[in-house]
Amino acid sequence: MRRVLLTTAGESHGPGLTAVLTGMPAGLAVDLEFIHREMKRRMHGYGRGARMKIETDAVEIRGGVRGGETLGSPIAIWIENRDFRSWSAVMDPIETDPARVEKRRVHAPRPGHADLAGGLKYLRSDLRDVLERASARESAARVACGSIAKLLLSDLGIEIRSGVRSLGPIGVDRPVPNWAEIERVDESSPLRAIHHDLEDEMVALVDRTKDEGDTLGGAVTVIAHGVPAGLGSYVQWNEKLDGRLARAVMSVPAVKAVEIGAALAASAGPGSAAHDPIELGDGGGFSRPTNHAGGLEGGVTNGADVVITAYKKPISTLRKGMPSVDLDTMEPHRSQYERSDVTALPAAGVIAESMVALILADALLEKLGGDSMAEVRAHFEATVRLQRAWPEPRST
Ligand SMILES: Cc1cc2nc3c(=O)[nH]c(=O)nc-3n(C[C@H](O)[C@H](O)[C@H](O)COP(=O)(O)O)c2cc1C
Repeated sequence: MRRVLLTTAGESHGPGLTAVLTGMPAGLAVDLEFIHREMKRRMHGYGRGARMKIETDAVEIRGGVRGGETLGSPIAIWIENRDFRSWSAVMDPIETDPARVEKRRVHAPRPGHADLAGGLKYLRSDLRDVLERASARESAARVACGSIAKLLLSDLGIEIRSGVRSLGPIGVDRPVPNWAEIERVDESSPLRAIHHDLEDEMVALVDRTKDEGDTLGGAVTVIAHGVPAGLGSYVQWNEKLDGRLARAVMSVPAVKAVEIGAALAASAGPGSAAHDPIELGDGGGFSRPTNHAGGLEGGVTNGADVVITAYKKPISTLRKGMPSVDLDTMEPHRSQYERSDVTALPAAGVIAESMVALILADALLEKLGGDSMAEVRAHFEATVRLQRAWPEPRST
């Protein structure tokens, strides 16, 4: 069975990140420059900490690709952590320096992080063993592989983009954006805001929050454009594409809610305002004047843009700390501070794009089959042709 599946390994301050991506067909052109542009997009964003100045996130492809084309075999990727050079005495896989390890030991779990729950689960006395893997550093590997999934999708005319919809309270009253608005997002702007008029106010809020030793969350919207109808299925709960997308986007670190289309607004109004009318298209077929459903009905794509908003909680590490407990003394203790971002929303948008790309690539290959890109393209064209001819005229 061919399924697009991503597995990653590696700790935040360990030697680096490894990723294995299986299920991609043979004959896909792998544009390393595009992958690196995507990696840079993840590193960008006003409010990020010093770590992103240390890393280059250079992607090394170590398997599954030859001469710039996929082979159909698992794709192996390596991303070096440059910060490991300063952490090798603490994080080396084989030999560490006990004094340095003790100095960096985390013994006061930080609320909002995996520290306490992970310590209880794996029974580690140094919570660094938990946070090193729970860290969002792992998302660099997701973006590397998500960008390969994006290359497959763009080969079939499908594009994915994102933008920051709200930061803290700023922008929460704005409606769900459409593709034209997402396309206008300025990639080089400090926060990649969908509503450019809010950007200055957002930047000022990041500055104020940083001075207060606090952090921010918000919402990012991802849109996939050019997605054909018929991906996913309503026949079984775990085949519904809205559920598969929600799970993948929810797995982005710190994302705590996922909205498909305009679900939040729709849930507060009547059905007549929530559902998208079905009209006859000008050149035959159907047209939908609105897209409140976000391109998904019954867990199946309907041909409209797939629209997903991820709501991210504020960054968990606060410079001013939070009430916690010292595991050594079992006395109250402020949570420990690790170098940290004030907000990472623009980056979360890029990671969410990658997760959407991986799920859509999986759903496409599930529907179309094909071991090579030539087959995938032929099956794609045949599907589009059959859908255009549907329904067959009935003889009366
Ligand atoms: C791109 C990105 C960067 C992040 N950077 C930080 C950070 O610097 N400090 C921090 O405490 N949390 C950061 N987070 C959030 C944590 O990784 C972590 O997932 C979260 O605090 C625990 O949330 P969970 O309940 O989703 O696991 C970041 C998240 C993302 C998506």
